[in-house]
Amino acid sequence: REEVVTIPVVVHVVHHSPEQDIGQEQIDSQLEVLNADFRRANPDVSKVPQVWRDLVADARLEFRLAETAPDGSPATGVVRVSTDVTGFSTDDRVKFTARGGSDAWPADRYLNIWVCELDDALGYAAFPGGPPELDGIVIRHSAFGTTGTAAAPYDGGRTATHEVGHWLNLRHIWGDDGDGCSGSDFVDDTPNQAGPNHGAPSFPQVSCGNAPHGDMFMNYMDYVEDAAMFMFTKGQAERMDSALAGPRSSFLT
Ligand code: ARG
Ligand code: ZN
Ligand code: CA
Repeated sequence: REEVVTIPVVVHVVHHSPEQDIGQEQIDSQLEVLNADFRRANPDVSKVPQVWRDLVADARLEFRLAETAPDGSPATGVVRVSTDVTGFSTDDRVKFTARGGSDAWPADRYLNIWVCELDDALGYAAFPGGPPELDGIVIRHSAFGTTGTAAAPYDGGRTATHEVGHWLNLRHIWGDDGDGCSGSDFVDDTPNQAGPNHGAPSFPQVSCGNAPHGDMFMNYMDYVEDAAMFMFTKGQAERMDSALAGPRSSFLT
C-alpha cells in the first residue's frame, strides 16, 4: 500500500465525575499523537539508536474524529455519557450503554475509543476478527492524550498508539511468553526478546542472545514509559497493512 489511509474515530467519554469528562483539547492532543506516531512524524524518533534507524516505519495511517454519525447525520466524533459506574475494568462493560457504558458505533466504519476510569490497566484493545460490539480500544482517561487529566509518565499519548497497534494485529514485542525466548511477535525485523521492559531503560538491554544491540525496548509494542517509546518497524507496518488488507479492509475506501 502506498497511499495514506484515514481512519474515522469515535471517542466515547464515559464519565462519573467532572474530571473524567475530559475536554476537547485532551481528545485533540491524543489524535495529534496518533497522527504523528503512525506517520513517523513524532519528534522523538530522532532518539532511535543508529543501528535501527533504517527500520523505522511510516505506517501511513491517519486518524480523524468522525464527521458523520452512523445514521448519516453530522457528528463531532465525540460521545459523552454520564455513568453511575465509579470505575471500569477490562471486562468490556464500558462498551454497553445498558451496563453504564456507551454502545460501539459500527466497527467496520469507525475505530471506537472508550475513555473512562479504568482500574486494572492503562488501556486494552480488541484484535481484528472479534465481535463487532466489542471492537476498538479502551484507555484510562489519565493515560489519554498529553493535556488535561493525562498524568506522568503516561502523558505522552502512547497508550493509544500501543493499543491501536494491537487493534491492527500487532503483538507485544517480547512474544507474550512470559520471560521466555521462544515466543514470537510474528514480525521478522524485531529482535527476539525475553520479557517486557519497563520505565526508561538505557541502550542496550540484552536478552535471549540478542547482543550486541539487545531488545528494541523503544518500540511502541514494549511496556516502557511513554517518553521511552518512539518507533514501529517496517515489519510491524507490514503486519498492520495485512490487517488492513484482510479483516479490516472495510477501512480501505
Ligand atoms: N496494555 C498495556 C496495559 O497493560 C498498555 C501499556 C501502554 N504503555 C505505555 N507506555 N503507555 O495497560
Ligand atoms: Zn499491549
Ligand atoms: Ca519472549
